[in-house]
Amino acid sequence: MDKKVLVSYASRAGATAEVAEEVGKTLAAEGLMVDVLPVQKVGSLEPYSVLVLGSAARHSRLIPETMRFARKFSRQIKGIKVAYFVSCLTMFKDTPETRATVTGYLKPLVKLKEPLDIGLFGGAMVPEKIPGFWSKVMKNAERGDYRDWDKIREWARGVAQKL
Ligand SMILES: Cc1cc2nc3c(=O)[nH]c(=O)nc-3n(C[C@H](O)[C@H](O)[C@H](O)COP(=O)(O)O)c2cc1C
Repeated sequence: MDKKVLVSYASRAGATAEVAEEVGKTLAAEGLMVDVLPVQKVGSLEPYSVLVLGSAARHSRLIPETMRFARKFSRQIKGIKVAYFVSCLTMFKDTPETRATVTGYLKPLVKLKEPLDIGLFGGAMVPEKIPGFWSKVMKNAERGDYRDWDKIREWARGVAQKL
């Protein structure tokens, strides 16, 4: 396999960034050349034939920087293989209902380009890691980390198989 993969992610408090790093490590262990970068640091998709795009969710949608990235690179995204993942609190339980809800968050991306696969993962709530205004609002929120690393790695291996 000689495809270069970009794992790019939109994260506010770091949980999705860590998921993206794990996805990247798993893809690399499968023999792929992988870069892992926040959406803000991607200058071009030219070097890549595969994009894995991950996002946190807020207010029942992907965080805005994800769609900003997708719009900026829409022409290139349409020409390469893509997979998407979301890491959010709705997926603290994996049920048909939570999957349907979070699949809904991905609709704008799926509309742009049909993905090879979609990963739906639990997120984390660590109020002091949330930047800005929402840190105070969320300071008494129930903390938790619902990221299932085995599930994340298994998903990434599945994506590698499909390339
Ligand atoms: C202000 C705020 C709003 C959120 N809204 C949602 C939501 O609508 N649905 C959801 O599943 N998770 C929601 N979450 C949870 C985040 O998606 C989750 O904590 C995620 O792991 C954060 O990722 P990050 O650390 O990469 O920013 C919200 C979190 C915050 C702080």
